[in-house]
Amino acid sequence: PTGTVSDSRSRPLRDLRISVTDRCNFRCVYCMPKEIFGRDFAFLERDELLSFDEITRLTRIAVAHGVQKIRLTGGEPLLRKGIEELIGMLAAVKTPDGGALDIALTTNGSALAVKAQALKDAGLTRITVSLDSLDDATFRTMNDVNFPVARVLRGIEAAHEVGLGPIKINMVVKRGLNDQDVVEMARHFKGSPYILRFIEFMDVGNSNGWKMAEVVPSSEVISRIDAEFPLEEVAPNYGGETSVRWRYRDGSGEIGVISSVTASFCGSCTRARVSAEGKLFTCLFATDGHDLRALMRGGCTDEQLSVVLAQIWRDRSDRYSELRSASTRYGEAKGRKKIEMSYIGG
Ligand code: GTP
Ligand code: 5AD
Ligand code: SF4
Ligand code: SF4
Repeated sequence: PTGTVSDSRSRPLRDLRISVTDRCNFRCVYCMPKEIFGRDFAFLERDELLSFDEITRLTRIAVAHGVQKIRLTGGEPLLRKGIEELIGMLAAVKTPDGGALDIALTTNGSALAVKAQALKDAGLTRITVSLDSLDDATFRTMNDVNFPVARVLRGIEAAHEVGLGPIKINMVVKRGLNDQDVVEMARHFKGSPYILRFIEFMDVGNSNGWKMAEVVPSSEVISRIDAEFPLEEVAPNYGGETSVRWRYRDGSGEIGVISSVTASFCGSCTRARVSAEGKLFTCLFATDGHDLRALMRGGCTDEQLSVVLAQIWRDRSDRYSELRSASTRYGEAKGRKKIEMSYIGG
């Protein structure tokens, strides 16, 4: 069975986000707080991770069902040994009409200066770099491993130089931590080849101590920047885009805001996620995944895997962010055991 598959809310399957490792060399306070992800934390063992063959097989089958974009995530995907080889294997997968897949990767940028060329050569289409502040002290506090911002900036430049663009820069804004840097970030990237996007701090997982009071609504981000550099809204690039685009009225480029808390976008969500150990999740806030690794290692055929994948997607009804916004339902969702961002890759 092939052809585009849609879920119970008529949303097609278009994106497959694949986590290739649950490990990271950063301990961002909103994602992998040290108190929880410390020395004793049980990360996945090597043989628990999907192999490159298993990832490629899954990709091939998902592409037959309509997936057009692959995003490699983590943890930190550049920590996965041989990642270039995986990218090469994925780049060889074609869409049903013979076209190329869009293969993107989200990274903290720490290894980019070293790896950018190899990633480009392997067939990576584009890259997104997380960067929460330009102020070195704030950046070191947020990554909590004392990593200097200058090295990430060098990595971003390296990626640009090898042609891994258009490069997006993602900044998670957390009130009282880095919200004072919003306008400075805008100023720095205004007129550059990079597209800066501001992300509302989300209640993913159970370990980041999320509080609504620490969310800076995108409307506030936009009004702060607009006061300095006038902005106007732009139409989306494609249906279901996570970010709302704004451009500088003086023509010096665009920014974006991802407002999963204050303006959810579940209605057009076309994203499936696979954890590093091969569990398929149909929502970032899901509590349970479907164990595709067990199926594959149990010897299922491509045909069987294809049927299972299509059925999981058809049954899908997730819209967590929408329900969370409806305050009456929020209490209900709050007590659930959600998966961690570093496990599922954001
Ligand atoms: P493009 O392909 O460049 O448009 O990327 P994208 O915006 O789809 O993906 P990216 O990984 O850059 O998304 C940025 C951030 O938006 C993620 O790190 C998440 O924080 C958030 N995000 C992405 N997809 C979802 C989603 O399906 N639900 C929610 N709630 N948040 C999401
Ligand atoms: N809220 C919003 N974004 C988050 N990310 C990680 N944790 C959160 C959170 N709680 C983002 C990172 C990166 C991507 C992997 O997910 O900043 O851009
Ligand atoms: Fe690592 Fe990214 Fe999570 Fe930071 S946000 S701890 S860089 S996975
Ligand atoms: Fe999609 Fe779930 Fe995010 Fe809604 S909350 S946009 S359904 S991943």
